[in-house]
Amino acid sequence: MVSPHDRTRAVAWREDALELLDQRRLPGAIVHRRLTVAAEVAEAIRNMVVRGAPAIGIAAAYGVVLAARVRYAEDPHCWRERIAVDLAMLATARPTAVNLVWALRRMEGVIAETEGDPVGWLLAEARAIHEEDIAANRRMGELGAALLGGRCAVLTHCNAGALATGGYGTALGVIRRGYEMGLIERVYADETRPWLQGARLTAWELAQDGIPVTLLADSAASALLRQGAVHWVIVGADRIAANGDVANKIGTYHLAVAARYHGVRFMVVAPTSTMDMRIASGTDIPIEQRAAEELLTFGGQPVAATGVEAWNPSFDVTPAALVDALVTERGVALAPDGEKMARLMAM
Ligand code: MRU
Repeated sequence: MVSPHDRTRAVAWREDALELLDQRRLPGAIVHRRLTVAAEVAEAIRNMVVRGAPAIGIAAAYGVVLAARVRYAEDPHCWRERIAVDLAMLATARPTAVNLVWALRRMEGVIAETEGDPVGWLLAEARAIHEEDIAANRRMGELGAALLGGRCAVLTHCNAGALATGGYGTALGVIRRGYEMGLIERVYADETRPWLQGARLTAWELAQDGIPVTLLADSAASALLRQGAVHWVIVGADRIAANGDVANKIGTYHLAVAARYHGVRFMVVAPTSTMDMRIASGTDIPIEQRAAEELLTFGGQPVAATGVEAWNPSFDVTPAALVDALVTERGVALAPDGEKMARLMAM
């Protein structure tokens, strides 16, 4: 079923190529990029043409299809050895979102099993990963909206929407469904420095779908929570450790602290492809450090004196103890911990 509040697609397979909506250009311009080789896909992930944990995984899966086409044409006997280089390149494009290696592992499973030309099999698997992600988002939308408990305003951080996933979104999936059910009256979106995913992407996505959205500077969030204007903070995740600690866009952690202080509930919405049960706690999650220029310049202009240094982690870790609800496609864990995570993953 197509929702009237779901019009955006960031990743598509079209006529033997991967088509990505260039998210760096939004909201000013709608530019699609056509990628035909795996190196272009790795670069698009690294440079934020495509971003958001599930979308990165889906793009990488299609990247494997492109790689297989080249490697099998080069040598139908040794393509498996040759494609290993492409898989390694894709796997290291960005370090924090575990969906990337999760998707590549699934593609590796198909590589190990196929006989003859692998392209059709790999394309079928990439498409399955893509479709399963949308289905998971719809399920999480239902489960998350059921927790809202009445008409409310919500705050979100970064972009965990259709643009960050196969479609519909994780946090924005809950928001889309909640809005459809008449439960959400307004969405507050943090602008999300330094890449402005909240301002450029979330606010755009919601405006496209006619969902009322108010933008705020990241530093205004605590003041808003203090006013009692927000009932839930709803965010996505890039990697969740076995104990329930959540890595997500930098700024999520202080939102969770402020939410707890002000008695506002904090919901994390993420598919099980974002869970990393091999990592015991958030301390072990690799946190991407991005270039200092992202902070030291704005729109190409310097905003700090020459010689100033910058600390620019792209993600932070919110301890599980600050999460009121973890929504996955397999079910909900209230106050998640190691035991509840293990139970969810065993379902
Ligand atoms: O650096 P980004 O834009 O890839 O960061 C994205 C986020 O932090 C999202 O909140 C997360 O990937 C969840 S997307 C459903």
